[in-house]
Amino acid sequence: MDYAFGPKKNWRRWAWNRVVERLSVPPAEALVVYLAGADDFDREVALQKGFKAHNLIAVERDKKALAALRSRGVLCIHGDFLDTLYSWPAHTNVHAVIGDLCCGLDVDLAIKIGRLSLSPALRTGLANTWNFMRGRELSGFNKIFDNDWAIQGLAAEAEMPKSKAREEILHRGKLLVKALAMDMSCIRLRNAGVKMEEPEDVMAALNSHVDVHRQAMRSLCDLTNPIFNSYRSTSGQTFDSVVWKFPNVSNCGANSLPGYYAEKYRPSNQRNVAAILAHRTMRMKGLNS
Ligand SMILES: C[S@@+](CC[C@H](N)C(=O)[O-])C[C@H]1O[C@@H](n2cnc3c(N)ncnc32)[C@H](O)[C@@H]1O
Repeated sequence: MDYAFGPKKNWRRWAWNRVVERLSVPPAEALVVYLAGADDFDREVALQKGFKAHNLIAVERDKKALAALRSRGVLCIHGDFLDTLYSWPAHTNVHAVIGDLCCGLDVDLAIKIGRLSLSPALRTGLANTWNFMRGRELSGFNKIFDNDWAIQGLAAEAEMPKSKAREEILHRGKLLVKALAMDMSCIRLRNAGVKMEEPEDVMAALNSHVDVHRQAMRSLCDLTNPIFNSYRSTSGQTFDSVVWKFPNVSNCGANSLPGYYAEKYRPSNQRNVAAILAHRTMRMKGLNS
């Protein structure tokens, strides 16, 4: 894959700059977990911004790319990005995540990303970037938002005409934010006693409470400060991204972690992470290069 083309270079600089703006610590202290790709073009940009080499931890599932990265001394965990993050040890805080994915966005991925904010190592105000391919993957996901409550909510929130709000449904980064706002709206409506057992009930409830959804969108955007971007690849494929910051939820005790988080935890993933973190410690102590 060619990741050295102009729009991608611009995107990379844009993404790291936006992450720096959302960090809760200076770049020199920030631990970053990212998808590097075999060439790790991100590294040069990150070092220029003040990040430290021993704090840049790549994740890679492709064995060839993994071997290329490790042969250059990159600290790289073998595994799936989200699964690795879900198994991150609680005692090592991650400050930023850059998920430059090659896939689209579906409901499961949206939920998995949203709930990352509750993972013990990631809930101290995580700056996070996601880049999705705009493909045919949605199979009905964006149809959920091609619905009056979502269009009216967005049009009112962003003070845009409804026709423009409808176009916005295609942007995968915005779709992620909308999906999590919808989750918040549903929680608020259920807490207010609105019954939502079937998917039709959810749509009906949201359609009759557009104001609740508008408030949820506003609170989420106030809390997370999202910013969006899109570019085209050399083959004409559109990629959409969002950079935002999850709220600091470090006050909620470990016992309040949802079962969802526990289900995603895998000891084998945690062992892979621990091995790379041990290498990182040795580098910090100057014991190897
Ligand atoms: C788009 S490339 C990264 C490009 C790089 N950020 C840049 O700006 O040049 C994504 C890389 O992550 C790997 N990858 C994609 N999805 C992954 C996942 N879910 N888990 C682990 N690795 C993944 C791919 O094999 C590929 O090497």
